[in-house]
Amino acid sequence: MSVAVIAGMQWGDEGKGKVVDLLAEDADIVARYQGGHNAGHTIYCDGKQYVLHLIPSGIFHEGKICVIGNGVVIDPKALLEEMGQLEKAGIEFQSRLLISDRANIILPYHCSSDVSRECDGKYQKIGTTGRGIGPSYADKIARLGIRTCDLRDENRLLKLVRDNYDEKKAIIQKLFGGELQDFDVIFSGLQDTRKIILGLLTDTHTFLRQQIADKKNVLCEGAQGTMLDVDHGTYPFVTSSNSTSGGACTGLGIPPTQIDRVSGVIKAYTTRVGEGPFPTELFDESGETLRKEGHEFGATTGRPRRCGWFDGVVARYAVHLNGIESAALTKVDVLDTFKVLKVCTAYEYKGKMYEEMPADLEILENCKPVYTEFEGWMESTVGINKFEALPEKAKLYIEGLKKIIGADFLMISTGPKREQTICKEGLF
Ligand code: IMP
Repeated sequence: MSVAVIAGMQWGDEGKGKVVDLLAEDADIVARYQGGHNAGHTIYCDGKQYVLHLIPSGIFHEGKICVIGNGVVIDPKALLEEMGQLEKAGIEFQSRLLISDRANIILPYHCSSDVSRECDGKYQKIGTTGRGIGPSYADKIARLGIRTCDLRDENRLLKLVRDNYDEKKAIIQKLFGGELQDFDVIFSGLQDTRKIILGLLTDTHTFLRQQIADKKNVLCEGAQGTMLDVDHGTYPFVTSSNSTSGGACTGLGIPPTQIDRVSGVIKAYTTRVGEGPFPTELFDESGETLRKEGHEFGATTGRPRRCGWFDGVVARYAVHLNGIESAALTKVDVLDTFKVLKVCTAYEYKGKMYEEMPADLEILENCKPVYTEFEGWMESTVGINKFEALPEKAKLYIEGLKKIIGADFLMISTGPKREQTICKEGLF
């Protein structure tokens, strides 16, 4: 029996989709524990590219059960669109997709609140995906949320949506001078999607408990990354859930005593989308090269990602917070053309050195990264699938990262396809 958690170690977009898809081969169940359709997990399967937002990245493996946990916020329309994508591709999922009956749902008024606040100019702009994630989690914490189990009773659902709608409408009109879609349009949209989702609703905590008792392998999949965690990230420039490994316990109902292993996914350089501090961000040609070579454009919104050198302070923080012994290192091939590579080992601010992540954004925004330099290998590593076959200087870079972060790599990715991977060990 084994329960493993995979978490992002930077600001999201580390390549979790590919890694979870690969690790899913040895899992019986892949379970997503937080976030919503703000996530974009890109997977290449049989020569085609798919982008998943809500459905766990194990869905491309026949027979694997995929769970959307209670910690996820679900936009029913987005979920149906994603199901449509799978149907079109001929991937059977109805018999193996389970949705928690305790997850909160996102309705169009959450998206309107999200976008209105972001665009207003009066409030702090976070650079959200505009998918209604924050307002839906806010309702959940304020105990106003609508849960998937509420979809079972049409009358109760009508009342809940009505009450929420009236409140949101008043706020949007008064605060932002905006308008909401008509109630009837929103409710009839929900009616259309409700019947399909009802068939998949499950008490997923009990399901997972039984599966763990039956000694099945469960892979818990996180979305976003450590630095976007609402408690531990660069608050307020974060998402509204716990993307770190602890989120797997609350977001799936799996007790901490049953988690056997935690791993993470980290890119060989750093990116982030949206606003917020990013100490190793590059504004020069090197940043452009990373963006171009790494195709660093958001899988959900298409926004160009901000790019920078590998940040060892972020990586060490992620190792400690998540409890990671070994991680998957992705996109090493993107660095193939660099003569020199820099890795940040500490931050300097007003003459003081910071080796641990400071909470204060003032420090993060104005610090100077302290860099160690590595020689670039200046040759292609694309598709290399054996560690010995890597150029010596690439090995030195990877060994250097291991020392700086204090963790090993179980997998090194040299391209987007499944076979473009150096696999050193499995998770289960
Ligand atoms: P929200 O999650 O849409 O509220 O956005 C909050 C912040 O998290 C913004 O900076 C987003 O760009 C960022 N974010 C949300 N989801 C992802 C993701 O999957 N990858 C990278 N950044 C994300």
